[in-house]
Amino acid sequence: MQVEIAREKIAQLMKELNQHNYNYYQEDAPTISDYDFDQLLKELQELEQQFPQFADENSPTKRVGGDITKKFDTVEHRYPMLSLGNSYNREDLTDFDERVQKLAGRPVEYVCELKYDGVAIGISYKNGKLERAVTRGDGSKGDDITANVKTIRSIPLQLQGSDYPADFEIRGEIFYPLSVFAKINEEREKEGEALLANPRNAASGTLKMQDSAVVAQRKLDSYLYYMLGDHKVASQHFESLDIARKLGFKAPPKEKNMIAKCNSIDEIFEFIDYWEDHRNELDFEIDGIVIKVNDYHLQEELGYTAKSPRWAIAYKYKTAQARTILNEITYQVGRTGAITPVANLQPVLLAGTTVKRASLHNADQIEKLDVREGDTVLVEKGGEIIPKIVGVDLSERPENSEPNQYIEHCPECSNELRRIEGEAQHYCPNEWSCPPQIKGKMAHFISRKAMDIDGLGEETVQQLYDAGLVQNIADIYELSKDQLLPLERMAEKSANNLIAGVEASKQIPFERVLFAIGIRFVGETVAKKLAKYFKSIKAIQQASFEELVAVDEIGDKIAESVIHFFEEEKNQQLIESLLAKGLQFELIETEDEYATDILEGATFVVSGVFEKFSRDELKQAIEQNGGKNVGSLSAKTNYLIAGDKMGPAKKEKAEKLGIQIVSEDDFIQMLQG
Ligand code: IVH
Repeated sequence: MQVEIAREKIAQLMKELNQHNYNYYQEDAPTISDYDFDQLLKELQELEQQFPQFADENSPTKRVGGDITKKFDTVEHRYPMLSLGNSYNREDLTDFDERVQKLAGRPVEYVCELKYDGVAIGISYKNGKLERAVTRGDGSKGDDITANVKTIRSIPLQLQGSDYPADFEIRGEIFYPLSVFAKINEEREKEGEALLANPRNAASGTLKMQDSAVVAQRKLDSYLYYMLGDHKVASQHFESLDIARKLGFKAPPKEKNMIAKCNSIDEIFEFIDYWEDHRNELDFEIDGIVIKVNDYHLQEELGYTAKSPRWAIAYKYKTAQARTILNEITYQVGRTGAITPVANLQPVLLAGTTVKRASLHNADQIEKLDVREGDTVLVEKGGEIIPKIVGVDLSERPENSEPNQYIEHCPECSNELRRIEGEAQHYCPNEWSCPPQIKGKMAHFISRKAMDIDGLGEETVQQLYDAGLVQNIADIYELSKDQLLPLERMAEKSANNLIAGVEASKQIPFERVLFAIGIRFVGETVAKKLAKYFKSIKAIQQASFEELVAVDEIGDKIAESVIHFFEEEKNQQLIESLLAKGLQFELIETEDEYATDILEGATFVVSGVFEKFSRDELKQAIEQNGGKNVGSLSAKTNYLIAGDKMGPAKKEKAEKLGIQIVSEDDFIQMLQG
């Protein structure tokens, strides 16, 4: 009977969560706190793991990702994904309007929309469920990125109501909100990684990641603006988007004037002018306006050229540019020692903000532009966030101008810089005594997602370092109240707080400690995977390259970096002293309330790609039900769970060893006893 209850509970939780998603994204009126939402989601997740036979492919838990795509399949678009004719001036638009009116023989109604600067996507729905999401590609074929798109919360997995065509496609754009993009770059700057140039490329990069669980954490967003299918839901484009909204899609909202019907060229110009003035207030990028004929019949009559529809046109805004003087080129040193050259500018107004600095990226970029101190430069808002220098006005170059000499020594510690072959950035290799690198390591160590030490912020780290109280992260655990009190702004209470925070951090779980110690390329997700797989720092330390790359999602680059880290004697000493201080360097496995012992004593190998679950989910289900996962087949293995694309050699070996080969569905059956 327990099984029946679970089935019902899963269905009910799914419905509830879908409704909350709709309330949040479509109605902008959530009726539940984020915390309570996460609790419900967790409950559903646990039930689905325990009763995989009832898990739905479009369950809201798919939002957290987990499916890995090693290589994205190329698939044909049912309807080609065309581009739009461009116009840069008003005459072009007047011409467009005249052409359309002439053919229609009557006044025409248009719809004006924003031209979102993101990644184009076509998403098909079958019987109300998200079936497939494909990138634009070359227009006729694109990449199947369904697993990643399913993690984007504003894209419904299950449509609302029941009034939708059985089979249709909706198109739109996926993008990073500017606020999210800014945070990503802030993080990267802290980590000493090269900054991402613009939100569009960043979104495109994220959508091509193999691990959808990582994509799920990235907070991509979407606007969907075009319904296609053999059965139209309305006779006009504008109305079709009304219906799209009701079904749960995030279509451009009418209230914010992000979409409007226009009945004359002047109304179109008004829309363009309005957004030219207000685009800075949006939390995403647009690069223009799209003007579409509203009526579908007229759209068909107008038809298509080889590349684009004759019923629509884009109007592109000019990129905001400013001229100013480059006073000085300075150099920043990041946490990992990466050097970033910075252009210090005569302050200039650009698209509503005053720009004083621009990134010059690296030595190659400076050389390519031949940009020099004293030059008059053209500044553009690249990705509208980090201003960039796009050119030099040579006619204004001072006579005594000299080509820029890229620094050879670290501006902070004077060590000689290095440049790894094939990498654009210069590095300061002095990671143990270059001040920004030490401070950066400590700031990372104490940060919220790492050790999260209460009462200790970046500024305090700076103070402690400047006062000579800490030289490396282990020193944090030696601090005493007497040492702290003489510091500026350090009262009794804050000193107590800090000491208590440091003490409490000794309970932070292993995976976060592993992330905190700052191994290059070992971010939060990788740290979790390593901790779960190896279970202790000792095991990771002793792991060979082959053992490391055997872990899901750990590639050559990460494995090499881990090995390199532990080879370094100073790191070994650091780990030893942190161990002595009592930090968690072993995984504590938590009890699961849904755990059973149905698979007790059985050993499994999981191989291939599965339909209903990711490999990780299957492995978790095995462990939660008392079974054991092993990496490779041997005489001791009981079952091989075989998915799609499993190599023939594996199958052969299993047969030879007499191991039972089971499918995903067989396995689900096993769980039911
Ligand atoms: S409609 C047949 N509407 O711009 C073309 N496209 O340069 C239908 N885009 O491929 C496209 N915002 O990726 C349309 N509101 C909008 C858009 C939009 C951005 C993109 C889209 C298209 C590209 C053309």
